[in-house]
Amino acid sequence: MNGQRLDTETINHIKNSVDIVDIISSYIPLTSRGRNLFGVCPFHDDTNPSMSVSREKQIFTCFSCGATGTVFKFLQDYENISFIEAVKMCADKAGISINIKSSNTKTKDNELYNMYDIAATLYQNNLNTDAGLEAKKYLYDRKLDDKIIKKFKLGLSLNDNKLEKLLNKYDNSLKDRSGLFNKSNFKYYDTFSDRIIFPIEDLNGNIVAFSGRIYKEYKDEKPSKYKNSKETEIFKKGNILYNYRNAKEDARKQNKIIIMEGFLDLFRAYQIGVKNVVISMGTAVTKEQALLLKKMAKDVILCFDGDQAGAHATYSCANELIKLGITPKVVRLPDNLDPDEFILKNGGEEFKRILDNPINIMEFKLEYLKNNKNLDNSTDMSEYVNDILKELDKINDDILREITINKISKQTGLDTDLLKSKLSNKKEEVKKEIVIPKTPKKTNMYVKAEQYLLYYMLNNAEVIKLYQKHIGYMPTDKYRALAFEIYYFYKTNKYINVSDLMISLNDDNEKLNTINEINLLNLNDNYTTEQILDYIKTIKNYNIKVESKRLRELMKLEIDPLKKAEYAQKILEIQKNNEEVDKYDE
Ligand code: GTP
Ligand code: MN
Repeated sequence: MNGQRLDTETINHIKNSVDIVDIISSYIPLTSRGRNLFGVCPFHDDTNPSMSVSREKQIFTCFSCGATGTVFKFLQDYENISFIEAVKMCADKAGISINIKSSNTKTKDNELYNMYDIAATLYQNNLNTDAGLEAKKYLYDRKLDDKIIKKFKLGLSLNDNKLEKLLNKYDNSLKDRSGLFNKSNFKYYDTFSDRIIFPIEDLNGNIVAFSGRIYKEYKDEKPSKYKNSKETEIFKKGNILYNYRNAKEDARKQNKIIIMEGFLDLFRAYQIGVKNVVISMGTAVTKEQALLLKKMAKDVILCFDGDQAGAHATYSCANELIKLGITPKVVRLPDNLDPDEFILKNGGEEFKRILDNPINIMEFKLEYLKNNKNLDNSTDMSEYVNDILKELDKINDDILREITINKISKQTGLDTDLLKSKLSNKKEEVKKEIVIPKTPKKTNMYVKAEQYLLYYMLNNAEVIKLYQKHIGYMPTDKYRALAFEIYYFYKTNKYINVSDLMISLNDDNEKLNTINEINLLNLNDNYTTEQILDYIKTIKNYNIKVESKRLRELMKLEIDPLKKAEYAQKILEIQKNNEEVDKYDE
C-alpha cells in the first residue's frame, strides 16, 4: 500500500482489529451497565455519564451532545487528529503495518493558512539576517538558545514591505481578512513591524496567528509589550492552547498538564525538560480551553505568575475547570515571580521540586479569599466563611471538603457540624445515575414506525430487504435520507453494520445525527419478521394516506370531469394496493 489513500476494506479491517471499548477506556473510565458501557462524555461540559459505548456495534453515542461514531471518530475528536491519523493509531495498536504519512493530512482549504505559512517563513529568515542581529541578541540575553528559537519557530518582522510582495498573488480581500496587514491610504503595512514573532498554531499544527513582542528600548512612547493577530476565519483565540500539540504526548505519559501564562515561562520550562506545559497567553481561560486541558491529563496544575494578577487568573481558570468536574492543583510562586524568573533565579531543580508539591485548590482559595479582609473583624470573618462555603459547594471531592471544613474550623473556632450544615451540597457523593432519556411520548405512531424500522435496518440485511421490497420510501425527509443511505450501503457492499456505515458517511453530520437519534432508542436487538412487517404496514398506510389526501386535493381543484375521474381512479387503485399488503401481512 502506498500514498495516503486507504481502501475501505483495509480501514474496516483495522477497525475490526481493535475494540472500541479498549480504546475509549484508555482515555475515560467506563462502567458497564446492561449491554453498554457508560462514561462522562469528553466532547461537552458534563460530569454525568451520558456517553454510551457499544461493544457489539463498535460505536459510541452521547445522548446529551449528540456526539457519535466509530473508534476513528472518537480518536479524531479526542486527539484532534485527521481520519487517516486515527486509522494509523488503531493500526499501530493492532500491529497492522500500513504505509501512510502520519502527519496531518488535512488539505488546507483556506488560503489564509498558506499566507500564514509564507509569513512565518519570512519572519524566521529575518531573524538570521543582519537586520535581525539586535533581535537575536535580545533573545540570547533572555537566555533563549537556538534550539528554542528553532523549535518554536521564532522570527522577526521588519519594517519593510517584503511580506506584501511575497503575498501579492493573493487578492486584497484576502489580505484584508488575513489580519497580517494594517491598511493606510490603500497601502499595506505589516501588522507586526519590528517585533519578535511567536507563531501560534491551531490544534492541528497549522500556523494561524502570530504574537509579536517588542525588543528595543523605546524612549517616550512605549508600544504595548505584546501584540496579537486579530481573530479570523482560521483563528479563534479561545479555542486553542499555545503548545497544545507539543505538550499533549508528555502530558498523557505523566497524566499531568501544567498551564502557565507567558511564552517566556513556557520556553524556560522547556529548557529544563518540563514539556507538558501549555500557556494561556495572558487571557482568561475559556470553557473550550478548559475542555482541552481536561482531555489531556487527569492532573491539571495551574502555575501562573506569582503576582496578584496571576492569583486572579488562577482563581478564574480554576473555576472554569471545576465546572467541568476537574479539581485542579495550584503552584504559587514567591516574590511575585513568574516561572521564567523563578527558574533563572532558583534553578530548574528547585522549580521541579515545587512543581511536584502543588497545593490543592481549596488551600489556594482559602488564601485568595482572605485577601483584603481583616479576620479579626467579625463582619469580614463571616463574609470570609460564607465565601469559602460557597466555593466548597462547587467541589465534587468530598475528602477535600472534609479537610477544608476542619481547616476553617481550626482557623475560626466555628464548630465543624455548624459549618457542614451550611453546605447545600452536603450529601455524600451521590452515585451518578445513568438515565437514558426515553423518546418523547407524543411521537406519533407513523414516525415511531419509521424510527423503529430504521433501528433494525441499521444492523440487519433482512430488514433492509423487507423495506426495499414493500415500500422503499419513508415519509419523513431525514428518515428517508438515512434509509436510502442504508439501502445504498447494503447494495454496494452486500452486508450492513452501523459502524462501517458511519465511516462511509464521512462527515455527513446530518445523517450521523439521525443515526444517533435512532440508536438512542436502545431497542431490544432481537426482532421478529412480523414486527418488521407491522412497521412497514404502518408506514405504508401513512404513505397512502398522504398520497390520497394529495390526490383528493388535486381532484377538488380539477374542473375537467374526465381528469377528475382519472384522479378518482388513482385513489381507488392506491387503496386497493393497500388492502393487498394487508392480506399479505395476515
Ligand atoms: P516577558 O515579559 O518577556 O517575560 O514575557 P512573558 O511571557 O513573561 O509575559 P507576561 O507574563 O508579561 O504576560 C503573559 C502573556 O500575556 C504573554 O506571553 C502575552 O501572551 C500576554 N501579554 C502580555 N502583555 C501583553 C500585551 O501588552 N498585550 C497583549 N495582547 N498580550 C500581552
Ligand atoms: Mn516574564
